[in-house]
Amino acid sequence: MASHTRRLCKCAGVALAAGLALLGLLFAFYSVSFGARGLGLDLSDETHLHTPGGGLANLAIFSHMMLGAAIMVLAPPQLSARLRARWPRIHRATGYAIFIGAVATALGGLAYIALRGTVAGTMMDAGFALYGGLILAAAVQAVRLARARDFARHRVWALRLFVLVMGSLIYRLHYAGWYLLTDGLWSTPELDGPFDQVQYFAFYLPYLAALEIWLRRRPRAAVAHAPG
Ligand code: HEM
Repeated sequence: MASHTRRLCKCAGVALAAGLALLGLLFAFYSVSFGARGLGLDLSDETHLHTPGGGLANLAIFSHMMLGAAIMVLAPPQLSARLRARWPRIHRATGYAIFIGAVATALGGLAYIALRGTVAGTMMDAGFALYGGLILAAAVQAVRLARARDFARHRVWALRLFVLVMGSLIYRLHYAGWYLLTDGLWSTPELDGPFDQVQYFAFYLPYLAALEIWLRRRPRAAVAHAPG
C-alpha cells in the first residue's frame, strides 16, 4: 500500500475512534444522569422504566445505568499495552473496579427483568438476560484467570468482556443509524417491531462472533500479546 494511502487510512481510523469515543462519553453522561434522576425522583410520567412504589426494581434499573456507564468509560484504557506496562497497579485496580461494576450492572439488569420484565416481553427479556449472563461469565473468567496468572486466557476473556460492555453503546448506535436512514421503519415505541426484535440479540452476538473469528485467525503469540 502506498504510504499516502496508509496515512489516509490511519487518519480515518483515528477520526473514527475519536468519533466513537465522543459518542461513548455522551451516552455515558446520558446514562449516569438518567440513573441519578431515577434514583432520586419519581419519573413515572417520563419513563416506563420507573415502577411506582417499586423500590427494588427502581434501585436495580437506575443504579445499573450509573454503574454500566462507569465500566464503559473505564474499560477502553485497559486495552492499552503501554499503560498496562507502565502502570500495572492501575491496570489491576481498574480491572477489579470493572469486575465489581460489571457484576453489579448485570445483576441490576437481571433483577429488573425478573421483577418487572422488559417493555417488549419474553423475547426481549431473553436477549437482555443472555447479555447479562454473558457479562457475568466474562467478568468472572477475566478476574479468575488473571489471579491464576494465566494471562493469555485472561486477555481473551477481558476482550470478550470489553466487546460485551460496549454492546450497550452499540445498541444505541444501531438505533441512531437506523432512525437516520429509515426514520424508524420496523421499529415501534414498545420495541416489538421486526427491527427491534433483531436488536434483542444483534447488539452483542455478531460482535462476539467477529471477535471469536479474529481470535482464531491470529497466531497464538499475537493473541497473547494483543492489547487487553
Ligand atoms: C454495560 C453497560 C450498560 C449501560 C451503560 C446500560 C444503560 C442502560 C440505559 C441508559 C437504559 C435505559 C433505556 C434507554 O434510555 O435507552 C437501559 C435499559 C435496560 N438495560 Fe441496561 N445498560 C448496561 C448494561 C446492561 C446489562 C448487562 C443488562 C443485563 C441484563 C441490562 C439490562 C437492561 C434492561 C432490562 C433495560 C430496560 C429495557 C426496557 O424495558 O426498556 N443493561 N440500560
